[in-house]
Amino acid sequence: MNPYLLTMLGKDPFILDQYRNLCTKIIWTCAVSDKRCLLITSSVASEGKSLTSLNLAISIAEMKKEQVILVDGDLRHPSLHKFLDIQPEHGLLSYFQNEAGYFGKEDDIFSKIVYPSGIDNISLIPVEKSVSNPAEVLTSGKMPDLIRELKQRYKNGYIIIDSPPVVPISDAIILSHYVDGVIFLVKAGGPPREVVHKAVALLENKKILGVILNNINLVSYEYPYGYKSYHYK
Ligand SMILES: Nc1ncnc2c1ncn2[C@@H]1O[C@H](COP(=O)(O)OP(=O)(O)OP(=O)(O)O)[C@@H](O)[C@H]1O
Ligand SMILES: [Mg+2]
Repeated sequence: MNPYLLTMLGKDPFILDQYRNLCTKIIWTCAVSDKRCLLITSSVASEGKSLTSLNLAISIAEMKKEQVILVDGDLRHPSLHKFLDIQPEHGLLSYFQNEAGYFGKEDDIFSKIVYPSGIDNISLIPVEKSVSNPAEVLTSGKMPDLIRELKQRYKNGYIIIDSPPVVPISDAIILSHYVDGVIFLVKAGGPPREVVHKAVALLENKKILGVILNNINLVSYEYPYGYKSYHYK
């Protein structure tokens, strides 16, 4: 399991605090207008979207004691199942392809594609096989159906969708139209400012609920909590 997964870092009060603060803000913002389906994205690759999606899910599940459904929305390079050591046989693609009646009864689909994560109150809908034409799949109309259905099944639950980066490909922008809000992640010392601006411009600004600054090197900030020896990376 990834050493930076919150379950592994559970004993570090500083890290826990950061996530709790983040969660409180998100939960508060979402509660005001019943926003329960959130997309995590960033400008470019490897800024920490997937790890943050998971850690956010863990914090929300812990604080709210509600179900959190993590959906891997990265159909080109799905990774959430790897973080959780799951080898999925079915997932998002099975859902998209079910029109052919692959599973028979509608109810059976969810029992096949929703995997227990091994962490309390968190389930995963993985991507079982990477695809080369995600835009085609994502615009098929099935994704909004899935979100609607999940909201109905998990009445007070949260849906967190991990996505690819915004700038090089359109997948995250397509997904952003289906969700209630977008959480935009920026890696400290990561992409140049213009690239971040471009990504924000490509997303619908009004959907961005907030920004997470990831990967800050606390040593260089001389953080005043006695954590000088701890790199949050
Ligand atoms: N704050 C952090 N501290 C330490 N390691 C981190 C942090 N954020 C991300 N990482 C590590 O960086 C690597 C990339 O993270 P992750 O897979 O979450 O990025 P991503 O944005 O989802 O990448 P991609 O665009 O390829 O999907 C992982 O090994 C992850 O564990
Ligand atoms: Mg990722």
